[in-house]
Amino acid sequence: MIGQVAVRRFPALTVSTPRTEVRPLAAADAEAADEVFGDRQTQRWLPLAESSGRIDGRAWCTELARQRRDSGDGDHYGVVRREDQRVVGCLWTRRTDWGARLTEVSYAIAPHARGYGLAAEAVDAVAIALILEHGFQRVELRVAPGNVASRRVAEKAGFSYEGLLRMPGSSAAPASTSKSGRSSPPTCADPPSPSGPPPGTAIKRFASGSARSWTQTS
Ligand SMILES: CC(C)(COP(=O)(O)OP(=O)(O)OC[C@H]1O[C@@H](n2cnc3c(N)ncnc32)[C@H](O)[C@@H]1OP(=O)(O)O)[C@@H](O)C(=O)NCCC(=O)NCCS
Repeated sequence: MIGQVAVRRFPALTVSTPRTEVRPLAAADAEAADEVFGDRQTQRWLPLAESSGRIDGRAWCTELARQRRDSGDGDHYGVVRREDQRVVGCLWTRRTDWGARLTEVSYAIAPHARGYGLAAEAVDAVAIALILEHGFQRVELRVAPGNVASRRVAEKAGFSYEGLLRMPGSSAAPASTSKSGRSSPPTCADPPSPSGPPPGTAIKRFASGSARSWTQTS
């Protein structure tokens, strides 16, 4: 139809790993999401509080997830720990470019579940599913230079460092505005850090020419 652009809905995604299941969030997960987004480290590295206000767990699991899914921009998932079926983390896709078959993954794990490698396990599985089952060509992570834990997640999940992404103006961490005019949920960008490595690019080919990459934000 002339004048109408088909909006792609983000694909339904559930992936299993030895210790986790990553599945779409539901209203019942609101408390777990609140725990993740209420944590100081999460707020430190995901600049969401100042401009967009604190993420409300229920909204994150319901209407924000639905909006993101329906617009084709991405989706919101929970990382469920198999041993007790508890949601211990949030993982989300965003900034999907359907023309380039590219999406970006972000993540946060509840404080009590950190240090067990769950984030890398979940991110790795989601990236593989996106590339092998859903035809994505490229999955990106953006990590602030000082976020050592997240850099380790990227490395352990098999992502290749590509370079330093300069984002002038990001230090105030303003919420970017999506095409529909809604305030965007957080990315992993953070204020500039002098300790970041020099810019450079590297990329690892994966499967049939697809790639997982990560980029640092400045
Ligand atoms: C980044 C984050 C998701 C890592 O999740 P995780 O499941 O704990 O990841 P891992 O267990 O693989 O640990 C990653 C690194 O964290 C550090 N770490 C280890 N134990 C830790 C603990 N108890 N608490 C915090 N960090 C720990 C280590 O450097 C580890 O690297 P190593 O495996 O080389 O020792 C988690 O720390 C988090 O939610 N941080 C706040 C939000 C955030 O920064 N999100 C990423 C934005 S890009």
